Amino acid sequence: VIRVPIRLRRALDESYEILIGRGLGPRITVDLRRRRLGRRYVLVTDSHLHARCGEPLRAAFRRRGLVADLISFPAGESSKTRRVRDAIEDGVIALDAGRDTALVALGGGVVGDLVGFVAATFNRGVPYVQIPTTLIGMVDAAIGGKTGINHPAGKNLIGAFHHPSAVYVDVDYLKTLPPRQFTAGLAEVVKCGVIADRRLFEAIEGHPERVLERDPDTMSRIIEACCRIKARVVAEDPRESNRRKILNFGHTIGHALETLSGYRMAHGEAVAIGMVAEARMAGREGLLSVSAADRIAALVARLGLPTAIPPAFDPAAILEVAHRDKKARQGRIAYALPVRIGAMANIAGEYGIPLADSLAAQVLHDLAQVRPSGRRRPFTPAPRLAT
Ligand SMILES: NC(=O)c1ccc[n+]([C@@H]2O[C@H](COP(=O)([O-])OP(=O)(O)OC[C@H]3O[C@@H](n4cnc5c(N)ncnc54)[C@H](O)[C@@H]3O)[C@@H](O)[C@H]2O)c1
Ligand SMILES: [Zn+2]
Repeated sequence: VIRVPIRLRRALDESYEILIGRGLGPRITVDLRRRRLGRRYVLVTDSHLHARCGEPLRAAFRRRGLVADLISFPAGESSKTRRVRDAIEDGVIALDAGRDTALVALGGGVVGDLVGFVAATFNRGVPYVQIPTTLIGMVDAAIGGKTGINHPAGKNLIGAFHHPSAVYVDVDYLKTLPPRQFTAGLAEVVKCGVIADRRLFEAIEGHPERVLERDPDTMSRIIEACCRIKARVVAEDPRESNRRKILNFGHTIGHALETLSGYRMAHGEAVAIGMVAEARMAGREGLLSVSAADRIAALVARLGLPTAIPPAFDPAAILEVAHRDKKARQGRIAYALPVRIGAMANIAGEYGIPLADSLAAQVLHDLAQVRPSGRRRPFTPAPRLAT
């Protein structure tokens, strides 16, 4: 036999930088001019951001002598579809853009996931850069290389790993973010603190008002801390075979709540409740102190996020959905659980910790809102995220 070794220098090929700052427009265009990622750029954004953010950025590209066009699609999760993916591809092709093109994803996680996915397959892959404009985008979606779209059968069912060539986080974009969007993003920030950074957690605990005021310096430091954590965890385990699972803290219960709410609950709101629930589970399992679980719940509440399970959500139904989410595996649901603020549990190196449904159900039951009269309040779904 003849063996032909093929060595992929993935780690090297896929390295990139995240720049965090304010008023980054000039910086971005200088950087791209120097790096020549593409001979031309197609900026892609959503309908809310087209005029306010897309047009000024395109003008900045052109002033710098870069060939740049701008296309957009209707804002919202309902655009993360094959139809809109096709429309973006058609738009890029209509501009006569070929493999010398680099894409620019300007927007929240929806724009980033869609554009990253188009970039992964257009001409068998073209470079793209992420310019996240939501807090979720800045601390989570723009980093890690996961791209994709939804299918009627499930969220993010079709996708690819494709890392951006750069991520530019301009915290000035946060100024116009609707309050509910901003708060939802804070859930992922708290998650970062709990899973890997006690100082981040304590900094927010010490001065929540600076966070809620969106103080740019405070937000820059927070976003930097979150980016470092996600980048480190993703580098250690790019395909989520083990350690990357810690990023799922709060997400096992969170996803189930999100699904049961018919996506009326924002992702961050569901994750907030999920973190409180899973921290309590870790407490019951003897992994986490009760006082640490209390601190997590207190910080989540202080930031304006929900901590209680709407009573319309029956614990058994929540767990049933969680079992379905993990359909590949039989038996117990595995959770990502903290052992203290800043560190996650592993059993013999495995970060998915299986818990008995009976324990989980008890915690979920305790977290359901109960009126002083003892009667459960009917669930009034929050309105869909509107901007
Ligand atoms: N790839 C990943 O690793 C990853 C991680 C987390 C989330 N996601 C995905 O991200 C999506 C959610 O992200 P999102 O919450 O950013 O959603 P989004 O992109 O839909 O943005 C939310 C809304 O905010 C508006 N908006 C964006 N920036 C704004 C600004 N600066 N000012 C005013 N309005 C602004 C948008 O137009 C949109 O209406 C989901 O589809 C989720 O699956 C992906
Ligand atoms: Zn999340």
